[in-house]
Order: sequence, then structure tokens, then C-alpha cells
Amino acid sequence: MRAISTRLFMLTLIATFADHAIADPLPTAPTQYPGGELGEMVKLGEDIIMHTNTHPLTRDLVGSKLTCSSCHIDGGKAQTMGNFLGTASTFPAYFDREKTVQTLQDRIANCFMRSLNGKRPIIDSKASIAMTAYVTWLSEGQPIKLNTSMLSPPDKTLVAMMKGTAHANYVSGGKIYAERCSACHGGNGEGTEIAPPLWGSDSYNTGAGMSKPVKTASWVKQNMPKGDANLSNQEAVDVSLFVDAQPRPAFDLQAHLLPKEQMGYYNAALVDEKTNARSNLKALGLDIDAIRGDRLIP
Ligand code: HEC
Ligand code: HEC
Repeated sequence: MRAISTRLFMLTLIATFADHAIADPLPTAPTQYPGGELGEMVKLGEDIIMHTNTHPLTRDLVGSKLTCSSCHIDGGKAQTMGNFLGTASTFPAYFDREKTVQTLQDRIANCFMRSLNGKRPIIDSKASIAMTAYVTWLSEGQPIKLNTSMLSPPDKTLVAMMKGTAHANYVSGGKIYAERCSACHGGNGEGTEIAPPLWGSDSYNTGAGMSKPVKTASWVKQNMPKGDANLSNQEAVDVSLFVDAQPRPAFDLQAHLLPKEQMGYYNAALVDEKTNARSNLKALGLDIDAIRGDRLIP
């Protein structure tokens, strides 16, 4: 009996270590660019991802003061949530939102409409191919694992905590914001020379992943405050609730598509989607007026 339970204990130990081994450590970004024209495209893609809102090939498609690298830190090379280290090896992938199998180019184009509050670039335009080449380069050597997005596994603990939030969490989030975020992101979330805006007209819109407080909390926990990401789960939840309960551009999908004759093929069964800060909180069972303690959000 004793021998059996010791064996069971050993097996459990081994299983526990094996579990840890399953969460593969993230690969490091390659440093060697491909040669020739392909290398030039990868470098162009990197430049666009670092300077999306000012780059001549994309600035007219961006409706915010953000770059891809505002959220995909170091252009997706940082080993935190938002990294691109293996992203390309998960495509093509089926997306519930668009109800189609999407390519990496589709996915990148969709980020323009939502996270950058802009317009969807034309698929196979130079900018679209360059960004895709860059993100694919960051998966060099990674095995193909279709349909396994590495970026956004919903953190169940944070989801549960977010669903249980109330006005007191919002108040605490406001204090955390003032103490830990405002020096870089501005007293009113408007952004500064050092950091991009977190809300208001120059920020991401309510169709963006970052506008869903659960995703914000998971991301903030790993990435912010920049250089010192040490918030507790509760602090990450409270400050993300606070940020995503502020006013920001409402999302109306139709308004972010180029006119039909310019757009090219749009690979999505989704043609209508309207969200705002109120509906994003409602999706978690939260009432924005009760959370904020006022009626300022339309
Ligand atoms: C405001 C923050 C933000 C900005 C700006 C942003 N993204 Fe994202 N991106 C996210 C978040 C959050 C996710 C994952 C959550 C979701 O939306 O499902 C994501 C997902 C992705 C994915 C899917 C990766 C995966 O593993 O699932 C790709 C590819 C991507 N972004 C590319 C880009 C590109 C290229 C740009 C610039 C054109 C960009 N993003 C701009 C926040 C942002
Ligand atoms: C030391 C300056 C600094 C502090 C403090 C800081 N950030 Fe940031 N934050 C940045 C920078 C810079 C970026 C853009 C990414 C980059 O350049 O690496 C960013 C990006 C972001 C983004 C995604 C892009 C956007 O603007 O929407 C969010 C969300 C964010 N920070 C939230 C927070 C929160 C919440 C706090 C406080 C808990 C915080 N940050 C504290 C510097 C800072």
C-alpha cells in the first residue's frame, strides 16, 4: 500500500513537471534578416510595424496615435503577451468573429480597423505583404500548429475577477492609474511624448481586443507599467476596468472598410458590427453607469 502511494506520489510529481514542460518557453526573435528582396520586404514590414501611424505607406490608414508596436512590444519581439514569436505558424486559422478561415494578412488588416481605429489595407498591397513577411520571419523555425493562437488565451482567473467587479474596483483603478500610469500616459489618458494615449479620440476603438477589459488586464499584467510590470492580478483588473470604462471611439465595422471598388476581396462573413464602451462592459455582465458611478458615457 505504502509502496503504491509512494509510486503515485512520484507519478504525480513527474506529471506536474511534464505540465510545466508543456508551456513551451517562448522562442527568441531571429536576428539574421533574409537576403535579397525578401529581406528588404521584412525590413520594410518591421519599419511599418514600428511606425504605423507615420509611415508613408500606412499613415492614411491609421485613425489613432498608435503603432502596432504600441501593443506588440518591440515590434512583437518582446517575450510577453503581444509577441509575434510563432504567430505566423498558427495561420491559416478559423476565426469565430469573421466566421471564415483567415490568413495572416487578413488578421493584420483587421487590426487596422480596430486597434488602430483606421481602414483595412488592401490585401496584397506592398504594406500588407511587407508586414506579413516581417511577422512570418519572426516564426522562422517554429513548427506549424494551425488554429492555436499564442497571443490571447483568456486568463480564466482574470475573467472571473473582472466579472465580479463593482464601483469600488473602478475607484481603486483610478488611483492606480494616477500613481502608476499617468506620468507616461497623461493625466487624462491622452498620451505624452513618451507613451501613446489610452483613451479618447486618438486611442484604439471599442472593436479592438484591447477595449475588452479582460484582454486589457491580461496584457497589462505582463507589459505595464513599462519596464516594471509588477501589478498584482487585482491591480491589473482594477486599472484595466478603469481604462476601458473611459470614452473612446465607438466601433462601426462598415465605417472602417474602404469603398468597395478599392477594398478588394474582404474575407469575412461578418459585415455588421457595432460596439461601444457600454456594450463591451455589458458583455461581461457589467453596467457602465454603476461601475463609474455617473452617467457620463452615452
Ligand atoms: C491597441 C493595441 C493593439 C494594436 C495597436 C495592435 N494590436 Fe494586434 N492585437 C492586439 C491584441 C490585444 C490582440 C489579441 C487579442 C484579440 O484581439 O483577439 C492582437 C492580435 C493580433 C494578431 C493575432 C496574433 C495571435 O497570435 O492571435 C496579429 C497578427 C496582430 N495583432 C497584428 C497587429 C498588427 C500588424 C498591428 C498593426 C497594424 C496591430 N496588431 C496593432 C492589440 C493590438
Ligand atoms: C514608463 C512609462 C510608462 C508607464 C509608467 C506605463 N506605460 Fe503603458 N505604455 C508605455 C509605452 C512607451 C507604451 C507603448 C509601447 C512601447 O513603446 O513599448 C505603452 C503602451 C500601453 C498600452 C497599449 C497601447 C495604448 O496606448 O493603448 C496600454 C493599454 C498601456 N500602456 C497601459 C498602461 C497602464 C494601465 C499603466 C499603469 C499600470 C501603464 N501603461 C504605465 C509607457 C508606460
